[in-house]
Amino acid sequence: MALKISLILLFVLLLSKSLFVDASPLFKHDYNKRCDITKNSKEPKGLPTSLTPPAKFKFLLYGSGVQIYQCNTTSPKSWSFVGPKANLFVNPKKKPIGDHFFQPTPVNGGRATWNSTLDCDHSSVITKTIQTYSVGTKDIPWLLTQTTKNKGDKGEAFSDVSYVVRINTKGGVSPSVDECKTNGDLFKSYYTTQYWYFH
Ligand SMILES: *[C@@H]1O[C@H](CO)[C@@H](O)[C@H](O)[C@H]1NC(C)=O
Ligand SMILES: *[C@@H]1O[C@H](CO)[C@@H](O)[C@H](O)[C@H]1NC(C)=O
Repeated sequence: MALKISLILLFVLLLSKSLFVDASPLFKHDYNKRCDITKNSKEPKGLPTSLTPPAKFKFLLYGSGVQIYQCNTTSPKSWSFVGPKANLFVNPKKKPIGDHFFQPTPVNGGRATWNSTLDCDHSSVITKTIQTYSVGTKDIPWLLTQTTKNKGDKGEAFSDVSYVVRINTKGGVSPSVDECKTNGDLFKSYYTTQYWYFH
């Protein structure tokens, strides 16, 4: 009887030990995997010279969402740009890891913001456009933007980003002025792009 109980106790002890030993690296692994915002760290080719910043490539993210325009019927009629609203992805087939949007009021002259939405990274960057590169009428231009404000701790994805390039855009352009009928109407123009981060 005593032998039986001690064997059971030994078994329970061994089982719990193996669980604990395995558990911590498992959680650690998941944590790093979830937070690996800078995983795409190899710079692809194709950056135009005029958009090349005086900094080193750090990582890229995929963006998808809308560019928002507002109808202004005061002559001459026009669509004015309101701002973007997009999700950021390490892998476009997986869950978003961040947001892209405009600050309601400029921060040191910058409005375009990219932030992490993961619990394990609280960094963000705000930039202003310093160079545009037109790619036709169907896709919004590529951009070189320069940081006006960083947030986050050392080691976090956006905390040391000094330039952001918007490249390989698809869509996102405003409708024709004919479609601007009611003053104040908003139009959401779907787009995808890549954002390349430099530091
Ligand atoms: C609408 O357009 C007019 C004429 O270009 C401009 O003066 C006015 O500031 C614009 N209104 C808004 C809300 O952008
Ligand atoms: C990122 O910005 C969005 C939009 O303002 C906000 O809802 C979200 O809380 C921000 N996330 C972090 C981690 O700061």
